[in-house]
Amino acid sequence: MLYPHLLAGDPEIHGLVIQELARRRAGIDMIPSENVTSVAVIEALGTILTDKYSEGYPHKRYYGGNEYIDQIEILAEERAKALFGVTHANVQPYSGSPANQAVYMALLNPGETVLGLSLSYGGHLTHGLKVNFSGIYYNALNYTTNAEGWIDYDAVEAQAKEVRPKLLICGTTAYPRTIDFARMAAIAKSVDAFLLADISHIAGLVVAGAHPSPVGHADVITTTTHKTLRGPRGAMILCNGLPSNPLKAPERTRENIPSLIDRAVFPGLQGGPHNHQTAAIAVALKNAATEEFKTYGHQIVKNATTLAAALTSKGCRLITGGTDNHLMVMDVTALGISGSEADVALGKAGITVNKNTIPNDPRKPFDPSGIRFGTPALTSRGLKEPEVEELAEYMYSALTHPTDAAMLADIQSKVTALAQKFPPYPELEA
Ligand SMILES: Cc1ncc(COP(=O)(O)O)c(C=O)c1O
Repeated sequence: MLYPHLLAGDPEIHGLVIQELARRRAGIDMIPSENVTSVAVIEALGTILTDKYSEGYPHKRYYGGNEYIDQIEILAEERAKALFGVTHANVQPYSGSPANQAVYMALLNPGETVLGLSLSYGGHLTHGLKVNFSGIYYNALNYTTNAEGWIDYDAVEAQAKEVRPKLLICGTTAYPRTIDFARMAAIAKSVDAFLLADISHIAGLVVAGAHPSPVGHADVITTTTHKTLRGPRGAMILCNGLPSNPLKAPERTRENIPSLIDRAVFPGLQGGPHNHQTAAIAVALKNAATEEFKTYGHQIVKNATTLAAALTSKGCRLITGGTDNHLMVMDVTALGISGSEADVALGKAGITVNKNTIPNDPRKPFDPSGIRFGTPALTSRGLKEPEVEELAEYMYSALTHPTDAAMLADIQSKVTALAQKFPPYPELEA
């Protein structure tokens, strides 16, 4: 039996964890922001490091007893720097949203102008949604995509020239195409704005060489560690330069970005770092530096382009017509259903996706016109092109028979048979 001490201490929670594991084993997760970490990462997360307080940074702590914690955090930082090719890494943000919040705090005064991609066109909440901290405390303005779903860099440039943001954000949560970081940097420079590249979704592709890197273009880079990077939940902030450890808040200049970021994370926004999480990030970064990980990153993209081609050949309408990365967005209204209905039908067939808006969506965000799905998690499980083509068949059948219970049950049994050949955590199989 897995997790014997949890079973003894809390059978109710243990039972739910085991049921969640069974759910994952029986289905195929295609939510593009999710992944399957290694069991080594999970073991690091479950260590005794969770008990330790270590406010501050390595060798500058407000608590004693941090000699090993310092070494763990330094290892995580060094691995992040080497992997991405930057000179400064802050590995303490609790997750992606707090990391972005720290960048705002570091670079802006409340009320200053930020320009980021709208949530309903593929951006993230923290890129300026009105009900998010970014839209509440800052003058957050959004750019969109064109009707086909492509970022129109000329339009972004014209808007930036008009609204003169202090911070321009590139990076997306539901965008199937390559980001032109050089172009975004040129736009930021032309209006004297800082450029933040939020590569949360594509970090694993960037380190694998399957997507261009923002390093050398963006002033600051944020990334979650739990998406294509295959780490624990968490985030990092990367930049070039070195922190100077000033006694008072440094001026908001490019040279001071490392110090500004460190001060914003702690003591600006957070207290003690989550050391078990930092250790697990270090483990994931070690794995991400291997040749196998490069192969993995390219396989994610191969699987996504195979899936996109298979679905398109059946007549499905993908936003932008396909994908360059790990995800795609499909307009399901062309099949006579809504995003929610598609999400439910696929769920019954054992395939987990999420509903999503499409550009200029005439429907409401809670029941939009599209779905978003991708290949990071299934690639971690070892599925390749033939299995992905099989999945495309199952998806299409489910989407074209969304209320046919017998049909969905039949697809589900086939999806489960496929899923069982590729257990998410082989080491945990009995
Ligand atoms: C581009 C982007 N930035 C930030 C985040 C926020 O990460 P978290 O959910 O860990 O706060 C996400 C999460 O989906 C994301 O896609």
